[in-house]
Amino acid sequence: MALWSGRFSGKMDPAAWYFNASIGIDQRMALEDVLGSLAWASQLAAIGVISQNEFKQMEMGLTTIQSEFENDLFDIQPGDEDIHSAVERRLYELIGETAGKLHTGRSRNDQVATDFRLWVLNHIPAICNVITQMQQSLLKRAEADFGLVFPAYTHLQRAQPVLVSHWWLSTFWALERDQQRWQAVYKNTSFLPLGSAAVAGSGFAVDRFSLAEQLGFESISQNSIDAVSDRDFAAEFLFAASMTAVHLSKLAEGVILFSTREFDYLALDDAFATGSSLMPQKKNPDVFELARGKTGSMIGLLTGLLTTLKGLPSTYDKDLQEDKAPVFAAYDYLTVVIPVLAGALDSVTLKPENMEKAIDSTMFATDLADALVREGIPFREAHGLVAKAVRTALADGIGLDQLSREKLVELGIPAKLMDKDLFSAEVSINHKNLPGGTGIQAVRKQMDQAAWCINQNKKFFGGKNE
Ligand code: ARG
Repeated sequence: MALWSGRFSGKMDPAAWYFNASIGIDQRMALEDVLGSLAWASQLAAIGVISQNEFKQMEMGLTTIQSEFENDLFDIQPGDEDIHSAVERRLYELIGETAGKLHTGRSRNDQVATDFRLWVLNHIPAICNVITQMQQSLLKRAEADFGLVFPAYTHLQRAQPVLVSHWWLSTFWALERDQQRWQAVYKNTSFLPLGSAAVAGSGFAVDRFSLAEQLGFESISQNSIDAVSDRDFAAEFLFAASMTAVHLSKLAEGVILFSTREFDYLALDDAFATGSSLMPQKKNPDVFELARGKTGSMIGLLTGLLTTLKGLPSTYDKDLQEDKAPVFAAYDYLTVVIPVLAGALDSVTLKPENMEKAIDSTMFATDLADALVREGIPFREAHGLVAKAVRTALADGIGLDQLSREKLVELGIPAKLMDKDLFSAEVSINHKNLPGGTGIQAVRKQMDQAAWCINQNKKFFGGKNE
């Protein structure tokens, strides 16, 4: 029987009932619903709205329900509209009429907002945990592949030589921003809506600060109208999830590209590749492709929720029931895909010979221009001189490093510069030892900094994410 059936004389159309019900989705918040009710009951008792004895009964019933959920013994009934109704129905079965006092001064509007926030707070640590796992894999790769060099690309054109470790770490820092973003979402979620009731605030002056403390919220919401309709935390959750997915997608795209015969910088392990049902020679990077592909669906979840929110008048509207499925889906996606990607990354084999071969002499053109600058030539002029040298070399079908001394003099480039071992990736890289650059020392420092961040992040949730 619905919690609100007293108002109605007729029965609800079965299809409409099914359409309206959300138990299939929100049963994932069972634990949070029970904890929220326990806290609410204790605050009702604290201000004398229910007796201590009634509270004890409720506590006994609710803890029984909690253990039923934990042990998969809770029976969802066909008449359970949502998780809140299911818990209240079961409480009646366990303790009888006293159960009818639990919902005093409370509405499902503030209840669902509270449950959902609690669920988000309880689950963000697990997401941060898998992101840390991925960061550790990237750092491990950076350490294992330290010293290897390959081309960095801009516009997907070979640009300058960099340490492969520097490339792995580029995703590390993107994920580090995600860690910070998730921590911010966590903080922004930590405001308790309970006590807002349906829209105007509860008719019973429970101590909302105690309630917040009891449930682990940092603070309380300031306006009951806003509190029952505020789903910013869910949208922020989906944005953080989308941004994380976009970062993984970019990495995946890099790995896919570099595993092609055209680049051939790395090979995927059999454990993380698939074959073709038709073409016997194929080894496909499905795991990485799926990581890239599912990112589109993830962004869809974010835009879906924002679209739901944008037309609502403030306060609770049933449209808001659409808020949970995308958040649960995003959580499920991230916690599954990230460990798979981390494992796949660990097993990738690099092909250093091919990487080295891909560094051709034109990729040192900027280094040559820098060398001219060190000789006192203004950069714009140096750029022009080297560009001319590149054109000449390309026209002659030779490398930039093969231009004759006479040619160089003719071009206005001091030939002595060419003796300075300019065309070496090692030299080029070691000119970039400023913080954030690809120089050996700079990247070592970067790796120390990365390890420090991993440790810091572990402290944020007070051990919940270890
Ligand atoms: N199942 C609902 C939801 O998820 C719970 C809140 C229902 N409130 C109401 N006034 N009908 O949003």
